[in-house]
Amino acid sequence: MRPILIVLVVLGAIVGGATALLMMSSSQDPNFGQTVRSTGKALIGGPFSLIDHTGKRVTNNDFRGKKMLIYFGFTHCPDICPGSLQVISAALDKLGSQADAVTPIFMTVDPERDTQKVMAEYVASFHPRLVGLTGTKDEIEQTVKKTYRIYYKKVANPDQPDAYTVDHASMIYLMDERGEFVKFFAHPTSADDLAEQMRPYL
Ligand code: NI
Repeated sequence: MRPILIVLVVLGAIVGGATALLMMSSSQDPNFGQTVRSTGKALIGGPFSLIDHTGKRVTNNDFRGKKMLIYFGFTHCPDICPGSLQVISAALDKLGSQADAVTPIFMTVDPERDTQKVMAEYVASFHPRLVGLTGTKDEIEQTVKKTYRIYYKKVANPDQPDAYTVDHASMIYLMDERGEFVKFFAHPTSADDLAEQMRPYL
């Protein structure tokens, strides 16, 4: 029995390795690029229905016709989120009228504490055009984790149940006028840096 198992394992490894090699070589084939791009679009983005910071229910269709610059985070975040939102806001100001092509969005990963009222105050403190999006726990989980594929996880504080934090990916997405994925900007170091990275896409 044992030698057969070993043969099966070895065969499995060979088939797996060959598949991986095939995929790697295919992705270097220029004709394969189209497939890769359309797969990427299908993986990130899609329909959603959430509540904006003014209390209005909005869907992905309400953002059609403009690009979306989406940052995912939560208002209780001590430093990363406010830092990123400051960089995004300053980059929009640096881009001037070019930035009109973009709707900046802050999507919460903490819908329990980030109510519409909390979001309204928070986004206004960064940029007049920044749109805050929240929703029910299920709506946020569906939209952030499944539609936009952003990781987040609530981390409990046993001493203070209300003082939990949320681990989350710090990622800025640029989506096109139809809501399809264009590019992500990971941790921009400065407003100048982000503005220059965004400019070719506006
Ligand atoms: Ni954060």
